[in-house]
Amino acid sequence: MTTLPAKRRKLDPKTANILYHDAAARSYDDKWSISFDERCVSYVRERAARMLPGAAYDRVLEIGSGTGFFLLNMWQAGFVKEAHATDISPGMLQACGENARRLGCDVQLRTADAEGLPFDDESFDLVVGHAFLHHLPDWERALRDCYRVLAPGGAMFFAGEPTRLGDRLAGVAKKTTAWATKAAGALRPGLLKPPSPTPITEDERVLKDLEFAVDLHTFEPAEVERACHAIGFTNVRTETEELVSSLVGWSVRTMESRVRPEVLGEKWGPFAYRMYLSLYDFDQRYLYRVLPKRAFYNLLLYGEKPERD
Ligand SMILES: C[S@@+](CC[C@H](N)C(=O)[O-])C[C@H]1O[C@@H](n2cnc3c(N)ncnc32)[C@H](O)[C@@H]1O
Repeated sequence: MTTLPAKRRKLDPKTANILYHDAAARSYDDKWSISFDERCVSYVRERAARMLPGAAYDRVLEIGSGTGFFLLNMWQAGFVKEAHATDISPGMLQACGENARRLGCDVQLRTADAEGLPFDDESFDLVVGHAFLHHLPDWERALRDCYRVLAPGGAMFFAGEPTRLGDRLAGVAKKTTAWATKAAGALRPGLLKPPSPTPITEDERVLKDLEFAVDLHTFEPAEVERACHAIGFTNVRTETEELVSSLVGWSVRTMESRVRPEVLGEKWGPFAYRMYLSLYDFDQRYLYRVLPKRAFYNLLLYGEKPERD
């Protein structure tokens, strides 16, 4: 069992991240509907195909790999030949190892802080990451280290990072839905989940206490591009995704966390997922043409380390 210091809110961000993600690891895949079947392979394949010029890379390192969602599904989609995963949370890496074993992927695991990677210069052909740069106290330092461990001609590819404006809009959607759900619950008895009869577990307590201590940044696409150029990356490109789909998606998650599942019924889950996919298509096909990319929720980033002269 993890014992937290009394002043848990004053923890430094890295200790907070280790405690939070070790506690999250056991239920992480369920919470975020992570799987290693065609649903998630195609999600990862589409983003990799959109951002990467190559179809396959030899030595691939994921930083902040969590349970392996991005790297293992990229491996299944054929983009990765030799897989290496690192994370600051040993619990997450253990879950990643278990997922890899089930899939038959021979991944090399190493507990590591992305701001000081324990690898020689020029060790990898591709460095990837998903939904983790925003947890780092100094994300530019992590990108510099990423550059150091890349071989000349190698590339970096990140996805799933919240944009500044997209995150604010998502916050409004979450708050409005929480308010509306509470109001609906007052009008219709039996709508909301009752308080749990059992005391919360230690893992649940850690997650609740540290939820607001681990998310440190949101990103402006133009700022990220500037930082990457200053490090030395070339062919830097940012793209974004999800606007209406993000607002509806966060509202749905907020509502689902409060309303009793029996009220929503069995068909709700597949319906909500199909709705998300249709809205995502609408965002990328139409809105992405006319609205600034900083308004969309998720940032994708690509850059290359130049070949030696
Ligand atoms: C939101 S999770 C994302 C995990 C995975 N990439 C995914 O998309 O499912 C963020 C991950 O970043 C890791 N992390 C946080 N700070 C880190 C750091 N300084 N160095 C390496 N990993 C870190 C956490 O332990 C966690 O596994």
